[in-house]
Amino acid sequence: MGRNQTFLSEFFLLGLPICPEHQHLFYALFLSMYLITILGNLLIIILIQLDSHLHTPMYFFLSNLSFSDLFFSSVTMPKLLKNMQSQVPSIPYAGCLAQMYFFLVFADLESFLLVAMAYDRYVAICFPLHYTSIMSPQLCVHLVALSWMLTTFHALLHTLLVARLSFCEDNTIPHFFCEISALLKLACSDTHVNELVIFIMGGLVIVIPFLLIIISYGRIVFSILKVPSARGIYKAFSTCSSHLSVVSLFYGTIIGLYLCPSTNNSTVKETVMAMMYTVVTPMLNPFIYSLRNRDMKGALRRAICKKEILFCLIR
Ligand SMILES: *[C@@H]1O[C@H](CO)[C@@H](O)[C@H](O)[C@H]1NC(C)=O
Repeated sequence: MGRNQTFLSEFFLLGLPICPEHQHLFYALFLSMYLITILGNLLIIILIQLDSHLHTPMYFFLSNLSFSDLFFSSVTMPKLLKNMQSQVPSIPYAGCLAQMYFFLVFADLESFLLVAMAYDRYVAICFPLHYTSIMSPQLCVHLVALSWMLTTFHALLHTLLVARLSFCEDNTIPHFFCEISALLKLACSDTHVNELVIFIMGGLVIVIPFLLIIISYGRIVFSILKVPSARGIYKAFSTCSSHLSVVSLFYGTIIGLYLCPSTNNSTVKETVMAMMYTVVTPMLNPFIYSLRNRDMKGALRRAICKKEILFCLIR
């Protein structure tokens, strides 16, 4: 092709569009956000494991979601924080592919778990009497296993397709992590197949879960409107509101990123949106669930009181 194709051993990550004098401020901000994410999600996983009141399908899915959030932010944040401190923010070729793979795994997992949770709420509200027989432990395990299988397949497909590309001398990724579309722009081999697969699979992995969630909620609303009662509406709202907030946060960011017309400073916008879903969403999820949720607060109180390590602060 006339351009010299060399085997690249590493990439450089351009990082965030932050001026040097604000670097320390943002470093402190991101570090604290990352620590809050880790602690919040760990607390949810531990509480759900410890408390037998929370051994229900909804909380098993929530615990899986926290697990996914924990790893999702750990795929990008530690590297970002390290690169903010270093003069030459590089990442080895294999590290870059690994980061891309795990980023896709945990992003997809989150999407599939949100569907499983929507289905769980649908069964709980529309078939309350059959809930325990429909949402059996086997079904939950199967849903989680299916999510893992689909997510692994999808991430592996993209990673293998990127691994066969060759890269030229330009190895600076204009992003703060190895994002797949930023990586494709650097490739000097043909990327049509990659773009086609991203388009088709992206549609399947984002649009189908979104539609399934909409259908579940449509049916929930329909079943409430059939027999409208203040108590039914309250019950549906109290059991669905947390899930609905998380769903809006997750899909709101994606829709904002892909459907809003991009302006001339699209790199900045993309970076800010990427920060939203890699840092802010995983950090907020535990709070959305625990602050609004009486069961989670009860579990926290029981965990603290039972151990008698601390005084009963949260009484
Ligand atoms: C994920 O969900 C499965 C099935 O309900 C459950 O057995 C498992 O403990 C959960 N995993 C985590 C990390 O919470």
